[in-house]
Order: sequence, then structure tokens, then C-alpha cells
Amino acid sequence: MARLLKFNIFRFNPQTPEVEPRMQEYVLEETEAMTLFIALNRIREEMDASLMFDFCCRAGICGACGMVINGRPGLACHTKTKDLPTDVTLLPLPVFKLVGDLSVDTGSWFREMYNKTESWIHTTKVFDDAAEEERMENEVAEAIYELDRCVECGCCVSACGTARLRDDFMGAAALNRVARFVIDPRDQRDDKDYYDIVGTDSGIFGCMGLLACEDVCPKHLPLQDQLAFLRRKMGITALKSLFGSKKKTC
Ligand code: SF4
Ligand code: SF4
Ligand code: FES
Repeated sequence: MARLLKFNIFRFNPQTPEVEPRMQEYVLEETEAMTLFIALNRIREEMDASLMFDFCCRAGICGACGMVINGRPGLACHTKTKDLPTDVTLLPLPVFKLVGDLSVDTGSWFREMYNKTESWIHTTKVFDDAAEEERMENEVAEAIYELDRCVECGCCVSACGTARLRDDFMGAAALNRVARFVIDPRDQRDDKDYYDIVGTDSGIFGCMGLLACEDVCPKHLPLQDQLAFLRRKMGITALKSLFGSKKKTC
């Protein structure tokens, strides 16, 4: 016999602040291969058209459906109800601005952090559209691709104790993004340039290293390695600055 799932879902619309935030219960019969994406859509279609949540790809690619599922940030489209108990509590991701109910604005946060970390290739080379494409070693390209797999879902940021305490903390996603440019040979920034961006309490030195970020990342990015890489690199850069060296370290 199919299970009856009881969903307790956070409800609040910042457009109507006079209505207090509350938890609302919905009961749904579980179907085969049901995901939270399917469950939430059925709730919205069959019970409550006002329920707000975000989805786009349904395949773990767009990063839009991040939410706190029974206390743990995750992607709703990737979460099968058979892996959950019958009582399911859904909350919006903390840290990000609430749009309404389970919908948050991750886009503004990522844009701000990527501006802050200058997440683009810095080069003095003038672009020549007639030139042949530059080759890159396969190993380097694969290492960059590995870090570029982030779907900007925000789960790592929501799970991060430092990000929840301080608004200016870059979080694992933005630090991972910096690490991606550090290993990109097209980027001409040196260690001191990167130190100016992430060598602070709002950057790598604010990270407590408890790695909730890596635990919850639905794309299994090697965040632990990248945080350790940046911490070591920025620590060495700080020491080297005593001797006035600006060489890149590896
Ligand atoms: S390891 Fe650092 S970035 Fe990751 S959750 Fe902990 S404090 Fe946040
Ligand atoms: S690093 Fe992982 S958890 Fe963080 S935003 Fe990217 S995909 Fe999501
Ligand atoms: S809907 Fe795109 S990641 Fe879930």
C-alpha cells in the first residue's frame, strides 16, 4: 500500500508581510519514483496554487530547486521521496533573499560574489578573432572543467556556518570559483592579486573548515581540496610578502 506523505512547508510572502510566516501541512499519496519535484507540483496543481518554489531543468542542472529538506540543503528534483520518512519538512535556503515560500534569490547573491571575486579571465592580451584557438593541456582543461561543474544551487552556502553568521563571506562556491581561475593559465593574475581578493576574513581565512559545504554539494565538487589549496596558497603568499616576492606558487 502506498505511503501517505505529510509535507510541512514554510509559507511566507514578503509582499504580504501582514500575514505571519507559518508552516502549512499537505498530505499526498506517494507514487512510484516520486521526487520532491513531482510532489510539490502535485501539491500546487491539486491543492494550493499559491505555493511558491523554483524549478527549471528537473535534472540537477539549473540549480534552481535548492531547499532545506528535513534539515539538510539539497536539490528537490534530485530527491526521491522513497529516501525520506513520511514526515517531510521543507524550508527555503537560508542566507539568500526570500522571494516567497520555498523560492529564494540565489542569482543576486552569486552575481555579487562573482563581482567581488572578479570571476573572469584577467589578461592584457588583445583579442584577435583571426587567430587560431590556443591549445590547453588536457589535464589542465579537465581540472578547470571539474570546478566549473558548479550549478550555483546555493546548498553549500546555506549549510555554511560562516556564511550564516556574516553576509560578506564568499562561501565555498565563490572560493571554488576563485580556485578555478588560479589554475587557468590564461589568467595573468599573480598570487598577490588573488590574495587581495580572498586573503581576508570574508574570504578563505573566514572558512572554519568543517566542510558542511562539501557534504551537501549535489554535484560532489571537491570543495575540501579547493579550500585547502587556497588556504595554503594564500598562507604562503602572506609569508612571501614579507620578502617582497610576487611569483606564482603552485
Ligand atoms: S568548510 Fe568553510 S566554506 Fe565550507 S561550510 Fe565550513 S566554513 Fe563554510
Ligand atoms: S559548489 Fe555545489 S553546493 Fe555549492 S553552489 Fe555549486 S553545486 Fe551547489
Ligand atoms: S530543477 Fe534544475 S536543478 Fe532541480
